[in-house]
Amino acid sequence: MAKSPVTVIGLGPMGAAMAATFLGNGHPTTVWNRTAAKAEPLVAKGATLAATSADALAASELIVISQTDYPAMYDSLDSPDSPDSLGSPDSPDSLGSPDSPDSLGSPDSLSSLGSPDSPGSPGSAAGEVLKGRALVNLSSGSPDELRRAGEWATRHGADLLTGGVMSPPQGIGKPGAYIFYSGEEATLDRHRETLTELGDATFVGSDLGLSSLYYQAQLYLFWSTLTAYMHSVALLGTAGVSAEQFRPFAAATVGDLASDGPMGFLKIITETIDAGVHPGDDHTMRMQAVGADHIVAAAREAGIDTAGPLALRDLFWRTVDAGHGSDGLSSVIEVIRRRRP
Ligand SMILES: NC(=O)c1ccc[n+]([C@@H]2O[C@H](COP(=O)([O-])OP(=O)(O)OC[C@H]3O[C@@H](n4cnc5c(N)ncnc54)[C@H](OP(=O)(O)O)[C@@H]3O)[C@@H](O)[C@H]2O)c1
Repeated sequence: MAKSPVTVIGLGPMGAAMAATFLGNGHPTTVWNRTAAKAEPLVAKGATLAATSADALAASELIVISQTDYPAMYDSLDSPDSPDSLGSPDSPDSLGSPDSPDSLGSPDSLSSLGSPDSPGSPGSAAGEVLKGRALVNLSSGSPDELRRAGEWATRHGADLLTGGVMSPPQGIGKPGAYIFYSGEEATLDRHRETLTELGDATFVGSDLGLSSLYYQAQLYLFWSTLTAYMHSVALLGTAGVSAEQFRPFAAATVGDLASDGPMGFLKIITETIDAGVHPGDDHTMRMQAVGADHIVAAAREAGIDTAGPLALRDLFWRTVDAGHGSDGLSSVIEVIRRRRP
């Protein structure tokens, strides 16, 4: 059976891997990227390079977007080379610059692209191109940014699915890769077969921000764990211990945390968090806060960066100060859950 056409917008490492996967599976694949030269290897494999982002939108019902962030999507659809430009020529900077207060996509910045009076209103030519499209944006963004993107898509007659990709580019299309999706499940169902070629489709709910919440939750775990590992390697490195010498110990700790054994704290604290009790019989918070002081002291003595340990120590002592000195480690969540005054 003939495979359905797919358009991929954004050809960084991730978008390029996705386009190559669709191509490899026999989909007529149209690509568009701000820097057109990045499409060359894909065109050599049979992809069609759209001359404009509007042409890319017109080529397929399913549009997969993989860019640095959500402002990039508005910038792309506002491309000056597009006759169907969505917004004002000034909008790329107002939405996309890291220095801009709007870089996270405030409601004001977004409404400038999509308000009924703007050039991007549903009655415009660009609105017509977006109409009926399933936009699957797999870029990183904050949950509220994703929700606002949904309103923008709806105004243009498009269905938006948001997604968080749980794989590096080289894992796309391979066992173990999965993607958190949120939005209308019916939209995912319509394209599930094609999207599953990238990785398992894990639907997490209709709230468009949910995929990002899951993605950010996983990413925080991933980055903070590996950053803590790098801190440990740097600390031991000051005494001549190599990363490779330490790695087996770190691997045991990471594995044990997810186990059912006595070091299986992922399960242990999940149970106490869900029960709302934080027993500290075997390990009080006060004991652990003092231990965190020693991690800061060790980093200072070694002459390495102290930012990570200081943040940890601060959190632990605030937990003690909040009355959890005799409670266990999971009581830290009571402090994390409160917005800092
Ligand atoms: N790489 C990973 O391991 C990984 C894993 C999971 C999720 N992700 C997510 O997947 C997304 C893409 O990742 P990536 O590694 O390919 O990252 P990337 O290098 O940040 O993405 C680059 C893509 O975004 C485009 N872009 C950025 N700003 C733009 C703008 N203002 N207007 C138009 N296009 C713009 C680039 O166009 P140009 O080529 O013209 O610069 C390029 O196509 C990101 O949101 C990332 O968080 C990545």
